[in-house]
Amino acid sequence: MMNKKLMILVFALAAISCQDPKNNQQNNRDTVNINEQYYIETGDKIVAESFKSLSSNLMSAMKAGGVKNAAGFCHIEAQPLTDSLSNHFNTEIHRVALKYRNPNNALNRMDKVVFEDYLSTKQLQPQLETSQDKITYYKPILLAKPCLKCHGAIGEDISEEDYAYLTELYPDDRAVGFKEGDLRGLWRISFNANSTRTE
Ligand code: HEC
Repeated sequence: MMNKKLMILVFALAAISCQDPKNNQQNNRDTVNINEQYYIETGDKIVAESFKSLSSNLMSAMKAGGVKNAAGFCHIEAQPLTDSLSNHFNTEIHRVALKYRNPNNALNRMDKVVFEDYLSTKQLQPQLETSQDKITYYKPILLAKPCLKCHGAIGEDISEEDYAYLTELYPDDRAVGFKEGDLRGLWRISFNANSTRTE
């Protein structure tokens, strides 16, 4: 009788100790998945906010004074605008491109790999890259119709006069000749990997 109880106890203990590491593994995996989901969702939210803010400012500048006024606005305001959004969300927000207008927005090494990947796979889902101290969110930026006025074909979508003004502001401008639906660039949002969610 005693022996039987003991055996049950041993089996029970064995069962618990066998289960434990499995549970832990499962928990770790869940934590990683939850964090990934958190960064994707936060990235999506930041992109939506930034896009809304940039495009509504751009559109009212266009209405008020055409491409010349709006391009001037982009030149002066785009950086501070994304900077203030960066501060608000405590991240670094960038718009980067292979064919850039502002050389500050050129692709870095990691951006290049991601950009090539989006170009070749044509998939448009956001993705995360993790390095030692950073988690980087990427999302493709596609060219829409209203963008052609400043990023389309010279002499067709962009008037010669507007283009002359753009190259005055950006002598190394490469961000022209795009068509609707082209991959124009990437949103790149960097999170500090040490400031993971504690919730
Ligand atoms: C009124 C002209 C104008 C319009 C319209 C416009 N852009 Fe731009 N775009 C600019 C200027 C000027 C810059 C450079 C801003 C800077 O100095 O950071 C720029 C920069 C960018 C960049 C950052 C990378 C780079 O090339 O420097 C992206 C990405 C971009 N535009 C995408 C778009 C998209 C997508 C649209 C349409 C939704 C659009 N733009 C509409 C003028 C315009």
